[in-house]
Amino acid sequence: MENVLVTGALGQIGSELVPYLRKKHGINNVIASARRAKEGCEYLIETGPFELLDITNREKIAAVIKKYRVKSVYHLASLLSATGEENPQALWEVNMNGLINLLEVAREHKCSIFFPSSIAVFGPDSPKDKTPQDTITRPTSIYGISKISGELLCDYYHNRYGLDIRGLRYPGVISSAALPGGGTTDYAVHIFYDAIKHGKYTCFLEENSSIDMIYMPDVLEGAVKLMEADPEKLKHRNAFNVSAITVTPRELSAEIKKHIPDFSIAYDIDPVRQAIADSWPNSLDDSAARAEWGWDPQYNLKMMTEDMLKVLGARLKKAD
Ligand code: SER
Repeated sequence: MENVLVTGALGQIGSELVPYLRKKHGINNVIASARRAKEGCEYLIETGPFELLDITNREKIAAVIKKYRVKSVYHLASLLSATGEENPQALWEVNMNGLINLLEVAREHKCSIFFPSSIAVFGPDSPKDKTPQDTITRPTSIYGISKISGELLCDYYHNRYGLDIRGLRYPGVISSAALPGGGTTDYAVHIFYDAIKHGKYTCFLEENSSIDMIYMPDVLEGAVKLMEADPEKLKHRNAFNVSAITVTPRELSAEIKKHIPDFSIAYDIDPVRQAIADSWPNSLDDSAARAEWGWDPQYNLKMMTEDMLKVLGARLKKAD
């Protein structure tokens, strides 16, 4: 069995990807790593291999990859879009210098890499609706600039050094285990917490801001499916558009209201995040992912909402 390393393992995606991979590959074959330990993540840190790993420290990346004879890396350590606008230099340091550190170590140790990109690679000049796989990008947020640069860098390492690097462009990710931190699409997670706890939510995006979303079970399955796909069938390999749910805050709140009739939503717009959302697509065309490696998300708006309210509701009740 080949060992797998997950960076950013205590974040929104990592905290669910690690248990998913451990179930598949065996606990000791999946190494979780994060810049610092986090309260509430003992189930990841104490139940299998865990390393403190700052992605800006190339020597430490090399030491961890060597120690565990890592053969593939799910590289989830990243700052998100809103945090990036607060500190663009810090974002560059983590997202770009961190990525090149990992690519260099991976080159030496011949590791394959999963690189999550984002809808943020698109900008105001991209087609807004059903944004195609291959089209004009020119993002305006520092996060988007780091992600499009990351995609190109990954292509470069594949073409130049033959590294097997694959990746997806994630839209907003909705999940119940760990909160996202500092993204523009975070409203679609926060709304569930506030609906369950307070019966109301104040949204920082306008009611008609359409952004695509996907639910965590599809995120996990998609990442692993892509990494296991037959390389012969991959025309793109890296940076696949993926989507499952196209939704606005108004539509999401209407869906929640079907389960919590007294739920109400108010709006207090954050101009920074609204500007980012406005520069992103309303919806994505993910037909390349469907055709080349069988992307087939299971959760639509209705199923996701039902499941989120059930799972998160039970978790929050237990925590009380
Ligand atoms: N969820 C991310 C963000 O909002 C987009 O990839 O920053």
